Amino acid sequence: MAEGDNQMDGIKLSQVTRTYTLGSEEFNALNKVDLQIPNGDFVAITGPSGSGKSTLANIIGGLDKPTSGKVLVNGQDLSNLKDAELSSFRNKTIGFVFQSFNLKGDSTALENVMLPLIFAGISPKERRVRALECLDRVGLADRAGHLPNQLSGGQRQRVAVARAIANKPTVILADEPTGNLDSSRGEEVIEMLTQLNRDGITLLVITHDKDVAKHAHRRIEVRDGLVHEKGL
Ligand SMILES: Nc1ncnc2c1ncn2[C@@H]1O[C@H](COP(=O)(O)OP(=O)(O)OP(=O)(O)O)[C@@H](O)[C@H]1O
Ligand SMILES: [Mg+2]
Repeated sequence: MAEGDNQMDGIKLSQVTRTYTLGSEEFNALNKVDLQIPNGDFVAITGPSGSGKSTLANIIGGLDKPTSGKVLVNGQDLSNLKDAELSSFRNKTIGFVFQSFNLKGDSTALENVMLPLIFAGISPKERRVRALECLDRVGLADRAGHLPNQLSGGQRQRVAVARAIANKPTVILADEPTGNLDSSRGEEVIEMLTQLNRDGITLLVITHDKDVAKHAHRRIEVRDGLVHEKGL
């Protein structure tokens, strides 16, 4: 893809609707959302509980599909992908960080970070090296052999960040990454994510925390399934 091709670069949502059906009731968690996020941006996503923030992130990350509308990521139309292609897209392009860390409890920090590399078909030797580099990057090379329950909350989230960057994604989607952390541990995780953004990764952070949101270059608010641009 040609560099600087603005039509192709970044994330583009056109008229994205996600409808949930419960019994005979239909509910639009997202309602004809148009949104463009250029590569390298750092966007904070705020909004009340139930407004559609996670739905939005899940659709951008290919964890969920819109009921109607289009999602393009670097020119690739996610709605045209088969499930296996979508998994492969996620694995290569998106790093996810969740509030609840979502680490495998019976696997060490190193094994957790190696997991996405297995799916990407990287050789065992290379996996180890790369996973260790990622753990080093988040300051946890000395905790590689620890199980999640042998790590503090902040350390677990840093392992999750290491796992998110293992496949060198172009986008990181963080859904309340500091929600389970005290403010100083949360600040460390945000500082780490901010550094990744400085290195060129597009960063989308869902947060209730105004201190977190102020690190972003752009703020959007989701309300009743609609996206509003907020000034900084
Ligand atoms: N599987 C589902 N079936 C039906 N409705 C759903 C489903 N998942 C989400 N919803 C509804 O869609 C709306 C948006 O949910 P979403 O998880 O995106 O909210 P959110 O903004 O992330 O909220 P929070 O801040 O509490 O995490 C909510 O009102 C929710 O009840
Ligand atoms: Mg949510």
